[in-house]
Amino acid sequence: MYRILVTGSKGQLGSEIRELTKNERSGNYLYTDVTELDITDKSAVNRFVADHQIDIIINCAAYTNVDKAEDDEEAALQINGTAPGNLADAILSIINNGLFQNQKEIYHYSNEGVCSWFDFAIAINELFGNDCHIKPCHSDEFPTKVTRPHFSVLDKAKIKRDRGLEIPYWRNSLKSCIDLLR
Ligand SMILES: NC(=O)c1ccc[n+]([C@@H]2O[C@H](COP(=O)([O-])OP(=O)(O)OC[C@H]3O[C@@H](n4cnc5c(N)ncnc54)[C@H](OP(=O)(O)O)[C@@H]3O)[C@@H](O)[C@H]2O)c1
Repeated sequence: MYRILVTGSKGQLGSEIRELTKNERSGNYLYTDVTELDITDKSAVNRFVADHQIDIIINCAAYTNVDKAEDDEEAALQINGTAPGNLADAILSIINNGLFQNQKEIYHYSNEGVCSWFDFAIAINELFGNDCHIKPCHSDEFPTKVTRPHFSVLDKAKIKRDRGLEIPYWRNSLKSCIDLLR
């Protein structure tokens, strides 16, 4: 049975992964956050992976306050840039043990479809049955410190091809999420 490490497991994504896997019997999940395992600490990561004989890592740890990151660049780079390298190196030792036969598999995943923040707000409003009036605005009217890409939709071709996944449309998943919240 695979031993699967979930880092940053107290965050938004990590909490969802924890919820989704709590009754999962096909793998043995270990959940950590920064107090149990700081992913910027390379030797701690290597030690943890070796001690717990980890086969797979799901990294949910991140520096997610993008505005704050503009002033705290070093910490953001450590957590979002260097630390995933520490995890990848730990994975390499797993690969070198032969588990994945020298394949390093990195996939992008999100729901299908494309939406702006405006589309997202409109959909939430409709699915909750609210009649809140939502006005669109251009990115230029909403200045932030962060320069964001104009188009950042993930390419999921690889995961669909390799894993044969049928990925739900974002609005259907949003409805499932709202149904759960009700
Ligand atoms: N939430 C979403 O809808 C969503 C959607 C798509 C992609 N993502 C991606 O998923 C990742 C996580 O996002 P999120 O929304 O779950 O963020 P989040 O709620 O901020 O969670 C990040 C977690 O990582 C922990 N962490 C910070 N530094 C760490 C370190 N050095 N070592 C170990 N853990 C550390 C944080 O702990 P502290 O709170 O104590 O700092 C927090 O528990 C990001 O890469 C994000 O881009 C999220």
